[in-house]
Amino acid sequence: MTYTIQVNGEQRTVEADDDMPLLWVLRDLLDLKGSKFGCGAGLCGACTVHLDGAPVRSCQTPISTVGAAAVTTIEGIGATPDGKKVQAAWLELDVVQCGYCQAGQIMSAVALLSKTARPSDKDIDAAMAGNVCRCCTYTRIRAAIKKAAGLRTADARVP
Ligand code: FES
Ligand code: FES
Repeated sequence: MTYTIQVNGEQRTVEADDDMPLLWVLRDLLDLKGSKFGCGAGLCGACTVHLDGAPVRSCQTPISTVGAAAVTTIEGIGATPDGKKVQAAWLELDVVQCGYCQAGQIMSAVALLSKTARPSDKDIDAAMAGNVCRCCTYTRIRAAIKKAAGLRTADARVP
């Protein structure tokens, strides 16, 4: 079947079976390989993208359910104000080790900050619980989220 979906602000048309996971569409049909395949079962968060700003596991999201929702991937998140701040904090604190989980981590972190400008440790734990890092970068992830939240607050004071 033919589907037209909005990805990172662009209309993209693909031929796909109804049950093809969005992750497959992004990686194999649209050549957006930043979102990663980890478990394929909704358990690791490596495939996290946003649908209308909410984090979803793209390995568990059939293309037929996307509809008119705006899909944002790691390739597009840097164009958003929160995405830019989170990516800057990630770089500044040198969060990444092997990097495999990090696209998903960043997508979940941006979704958190877009809803909760100054997240508590509990907020961070709840929002990031579904994103697994085999390199155990959790401490730096938490620090980077807090740094991004601080930058956001500081920026808000600038007229
Ligand atoms: S690959 Fe989607 S949650 Fe693990
Ligand atoms: S940085 Fe290696 S799995 Fe997270």
